[in-house]
Amino acid sequence: MIMETIIIGCDHAGYALKAEVLKFLNSLNIPYQDVGCDNEETSVDYPVYGQKVIQAVLSQPDTRGILICGTGLGMSIMANRCPGIRAALCYNIYAAMMSRQHNDSNVLVLGGRVIGSGLAREIVRVWLTTPFEGGRHQERLDLIDRLCCSSSGGKLGTVP
Ligand code: RB5
Repeated sequence: MIMETIIIGCDHAGYALKAEVLKFLNSLNIPYQDVGCDNEETSVDYPVYGQKVIQAVLSQPDTRGILICGTGLGMSIMANRCPGIRAALCYNIYAAMMSRQHNDSNVLVLGGRVIGSGLAREIVRVWLTTPFEGGRHQERLDLIDRLCCSSSGGKLGTVP
């Protein structure tokens, strides 16, 4: 049983795959908020929709995000600059599973021009249902927070 609400957003290049993912979420009765964009004809800037998803995930408890652009690269670069976001660009099911078990990913990123809808559905299914293992993996996530520039005033931290 999935308890979280999914915040989902895309650019024009991710719109078609987002429509498929929304159908899948509907079929599973998983609640979601779609922050746009709303068509594939108008070219839009992916960071705008990335920010809408990230803001919602960081400000609303019990939410996770899904971001879709053409490759997933721009969305994941953007999302991972934001402290508290652990965005995983997944082109396969194994990565989706590991991103949950080891990385506690709270945003799944998909490439609408890279993977098909069948694979995307399975990636989403696995990502939604796989729990974080915690333990040494939580310690490593804590280490990221200590070492990264965004949490240390613009300077890289040092390994203890
Ligand atoms: C849009 O053309 C494309 O650049 C964008 O969807 C994404 O792939 C960027 O990383």
